[in-house]
Amino acid sequence: MTTTETSAKTPFENFLSEHGEEAWSATITTLLRSIHDVDKNAAQIWFYFFPLSLFEAFAHADDPELLAQQLLLRGNCHLKDQIDTSHTFLYGHRYWPEVKSAVTNHATSFNPAETRSLSDQILSVAQEVALKSKVDPSLVVGITTVAFMTMQQAGLEAFRGQGKMLLDKKHARKSPDQVLRERAKDDSQGLLGFLKTIDKKWTVTYDENDAAAKYRMNNIQDLAWGAANDQSRNWREIDPRRSEGPIPVECRSASCGTCWVGILGGAEKLSDVAAREGKKIKEFGYIDTAEPKPLIRLACQAQTHGAVSIVIPPWNGVFGKYLRSLKQTQAEGFDSKTPVVNKQDPLASNDHCN
Ligand code: FES
Repeated sequence: MTTTETSAKTPFENFLSEHGEEAWSATITTLLRSIHDVDKNAAQIWFYFFPLSLFEAFAHADDPELLAQQLLLRGNCHLKDQIDTSHTFLYGHRYWPEVKSAVTNHATSFNPAETRSLSDQILSVAQEVALKSKVDPSLVVGITTVAFMTMQQAGLEAFRGQGKMLLDKKHARKSPDQVLRERAKDDSQGLLGFLKTIDKKWTVTYDENDAAAKYRMNNIQDLAWGAANDQSRNWREIDPRRSEGPIPVECRSASCGTCWVGILGGAEKLSDVAAREGKKIKEFGYIDTAEPKPLIRLACQAQTHGAVSIVIPPWNGVFGKYLRSLKQTQAEGFDSKTPVVNKQDPLASNDHCN
């Protein structure tokens, strides 16, 4: 049970707010079995990009603006501002208008005496959408799970409304198998490619829904270094964090946390997480795992020996230590509204998460 205020909420919002990070983690583990391969990684990445614990920290903060500065947040981490856009990298985004409508109906007709678990309710809504859209349910379970969490963080009032599907026709038409094949494909190195070593070149795709969103990089180069050569767009104009190339970077030495990315396809073609990357990414708060090739990486540290497909989150920050101490404070039963955070050198500027 979380400590989120429940008074002004609808019965369904109250039901959702009973589910904290651990309950959601168990729910996602259960649902992963029912999610099509095309969205298994994407759904997990999305939940790393929009952690419930960070949302709750802001919901309880006396001064959210100050907290954003203290956590060096840049970009926008708030789901309420990106309800229709946060999940375009999921294959299931194609069915967002139907999913949004079905989840809204489920929320408004929710009976407080409902006894089904969160995962069973998600599966039931996904079945309904699949039937209506005439697709396999596995294609909409991931996006339906995302919709439930979006409602938990944004609230029903902000969530309701007509959903928008943001893909062009060409990309919307792709089958899941086609997307999986494209992700798995490596660049041909030519007839004598087997003789090449460091002069091999690989393609990095950073938006599967944009045919031009790719850059080429050298073998065993880190993802951020390769991205810096891509001067095809005015990156700063698109996102002030993007000082050079499509991936936001600052330090290039695993010190700032700016360059985190999700790996949709090809995680196995990246170098293993080295000690420094593993330690720092946990401190930043992005992922806490001992896996050698996880779905979340620091682009300035992950070197590739093959083509990969990545997704770039809309924000970055340093919040791992803060959330751990907040959890500790809550476990000890203290008021968690004003946890102590040292005021750090504010990387955060006016464009921090707000
Ligand atoms: S650019 Fe700073 S951690 Fe990668």
